Amino acid sequence: MRDFLHDPAFAGMEPFSSKLWLASPTMHGDEQRWVDEAIRTNWVSTVGANIDEIEKQVAAYVGCNYAVALTCGTAALHLATKLAGEKLYGQARPNQGTLQGHRVFCSDMTFDASINPVAYEDGEAVFIDTESDTWNMSPEALEQAFVLYPEVKLIVVAHLYGTPGKMDEIKAIADAHGALIVEDAAESLGAKYLLHGNWIETGALGDNNAISFNGNKIITGSAGGMFLTDSKEDADKVRKWSTQSREAAPWYQHEEIGYNYRISNIVAGVVRGQIPYLEEHIAQKRAIWERYEKGLADLPVKMNPWDREKSVPNFWLSCLTVNEEAMAPFVRGEQDELWQHTPGKSSPGEILAALAAFNAEGRPIWKPMHMQPIYRSNPFVTVEGNGRGRSNAYIAGSGVDVGADIFRRGLCLPSDNKMTADQQERVIEIIHACFR
Ligand SMILES: Cc1ncc(COP(=O)(O)O)c(C=O)c1O
Repeated sequence: MRDFLHDPAFAGMEPFSSKLWLASPTMHGDEQRWVDEAIRTNWVSTVGANIDEIEKQVAAYVGCNYAVALTCGTAALHLATKLAGEKLYGQARPNQGTLQGHRVFCSDMTFDASINPVAYEDGEAVFIDTESDTWNMSPEALEQAFVLYPEVKLIVVAHLYGTPGKMDEIKAIADAHGALIVEDAAESLGAKYLLHGNWIETGALGDNNAISFNGNKIITGSAGGMFLTDSKEDADKVRKWSTQSREAAPWYQHEEIGYNYRISNIVAGVVRGQIPYLEEHIAQKRAIWERYEKGLADLPVKMNPWDREKSVPNFWLSCLTVNEEAMAPFVRGEQDELWQHTPGKSSPGEILAALAAFNAEGRPIWKPMHMQPIYRSNPFVTVEGNGRGRSNAYIAGSGVDVGADIFRRGLCLPSDNKMTADQQERVIEIIHACFR
């Protein structure tokens, strides 16, 4: 361990007087107006003008016909996944999920909320390895997955850290196999992708799509999420499921399993106040990413990559990977880690510890789903085919695993849009000192 505050490499550096966050809510004042309005008019429930307004505004912004506002992105992903399951395999009995007995191809390097709904619906997630150009689902690995499991009809794709994945290739593969896409745009609201010559917003690239207004997202409602679709029938179905699946009888009558997933008009008021600032937040996040790229250019690290021809990220989180040759000794167990300083080198463990010592929040890269204890027995497919069972007592090395490599060498940097350029320069200095 290093005593960063007294180490000569960090001489003259002081901890930040107030904590620098990874990504915290940024309020502007309009949020208060719409929350107050809801309370003043007594629309303090899961109906009201704020809900109607944010559904209209977000659908128009993303460029899809319908939006259904829900309690959170996870709820949106659950209903998006259930809807896909029901379309593909029919309505399930009340005690069964719609994906029972079926496999689903899923992004591997994402937050678990992307893919847990597959388990909620009794399906089996098959994790698809990551590509190194955008840190998203590898189309080549997806092709391999269809060789191994040609019967699969559903793909769950996330855009990590606000960077769009290779959606032209993924959509072409899905179309060739007659598969539906659930698009998880929770982290990428406002990011765009060039598809067949047209710029399309993430959240409008799949069949059933989801976004999140969680407190750490590019805009927030404190919580909240949305299901997005071009189909009126699908929007109506999700709205019905989200409000306990009530039928049109005078009493509580139910023909389907229901959920209490509708957003509150108060939370929707916060979202309503944030929508006008989405572009401003994206511009601030982009400036942060670009300052890191410039400020870290002389170090043996790389920023999280994106496709400059076919995409414009929302730059939600800035991340880096340490080049392999510059990795100092660093090991992780199930819940702890150990790193050792080596002059001229560093590691995610050391950099995150240094940032924490100076009162700045970073975070490890999202640990890939195929490495998570809960999903360790699920299939995992890489560009080489089956990614499981490749280790061997007699041969060194166990095959390609892009996600595991990014997780080992990568970290998320303080990316709060309220961080000043001066504060960010100090973060960049701390990272330089780690390598001294
Ligand atoms: C990729 C991804 N999917 C889904 C979610 C879930 O969204 P929520 O927290 O709104 O349920 C999150 C973040 O929270 C996320 O980062």
